[in-house]
Amino acid sequence: MGTILVTGGAGYIGSHVCLAVAEAGHDVVVVDNLVNGSATAVERVGELTGASIELHVVDVTDRAALDRALDAHDVDAAIHLAGLKSVGESMAEPLRYYDVNINAAISLIGALERHGVFRLVFSSSATVYGEPDGVPIPETARRRSINPYGRTKQLQEDLFFDVAAADPRWHIGLLRYFNPVGAHPSGRIGEDPAGTPNNLMPYLMQVAVGRRDDLTVFGDDYPTPDGTCIRDYLHVVDLADGHVAALDALDDVAGCRPWNLGTGEGYSVLEVIGAASRAIGRPVPHEVGPRRPGDVPELVADVTRAQNELGWRAERDLAAMCADHWRWQQQNPDGYRVGA
Ligand code: UFG
Repeated sequence: MGTILVTGGAGYIGSHVCLAVAEAGHDVVVVDNLVNGSATAVERVGELTGASIELHVVDVTDRAALDRALDAHDVDAAIHLAGLKSVGESMAEPLRYYDVNINAAISLIGALERHGVFRLVFSSSATVYGEPDGVPIPETARRRSINPYGRTKQLQEDLFFDVAAADPRWHIGLLRYFNPVGAHPSGRIGEDPAGTPNNLMPYLMQVAVGRRDDLTVFGDDYPTPDGTCIRDYLHVVDLADGHVAALDALDDVAGCRPWNLGTGEGYSVLEVIGAASRAIGRPVPHEVGPRRPGDVPELVADVTRAQNELGWRAERDLAAMCADHWRWQQQNPDGYRVGA
């Protein structure tokens, strides 16, 4: 057991990762600039686990501040989630995405090296696969992301491969997330998107809770059985457990190793709306609109490698993802902003 630095630990996925890492018996130190995260989330992880989790409100690109945070703790490994993550925003502001995401990775690697830390788990994304040749997608599939956000993930992966190739002390795991949804079953932590949600599940849940009008289904003329896009949704608690499994496996990794984290099963947009409606107990109003630019018809993970090498597999089904996301949304209709 050691101390794990979690960058972006106050965010949606980060807070669940902190919880899983703390429950595995590690000490957790969070670095987060709170642009997309909440100090309340970190507090609640402390309440849920009984652990005392220190939050450093620091921008990972601020090298001096990151050094100070690392000086204050004896860190054994880092999990890097901090970064900008909206596909649409990245198309409008590509320079900002490259600047923030690439500089964060450079800054973090330098700070970790200066502190003798050579174990890293990186939050990558299935978006690096772009439009795949086929599904399920293995880690060996060609990476050809089709938007600036995805290219910053791909570039960070390249950076980590190069760093690990140059210095054998590094052990780096790249976790390519498919579509994380859901929330901790306590309903105390969950997704709290700033502004209008970009993603299906948070948008749907905000419609269900009355914060927004109809959900728009982005296209029903795709080459899939019901015409809507298919994705590999996985429960954020399973995803978080995957980080603990990756940390445990790092010592056996020579250099840098990618792992897909998904369930290996795909669901269409209409299937998700159906499952969510059942969890909520009434239909979620929706209408079909035009396709969203950049969407690919189907993304589903080949999860064989994660199962074999991490001993990890997603356990929670779509019904649990919807029920847990709904519990969070009902108990916190306005996210972390009120009712702490
Ligand atoms: N969708 C709708 N209506 C909405 C929102 C989404 O119909 O209001 C559809 C999309 O068109 C897509 C599906 O729901 O077919 C899933 O969309 P999301 O935005 O929830 O997820 P994406 O698969 O587009 O993207 C997510 C993350 C990315 C990540 C990618 C990797 O948001 O960060 O998965 O697969 F890169």
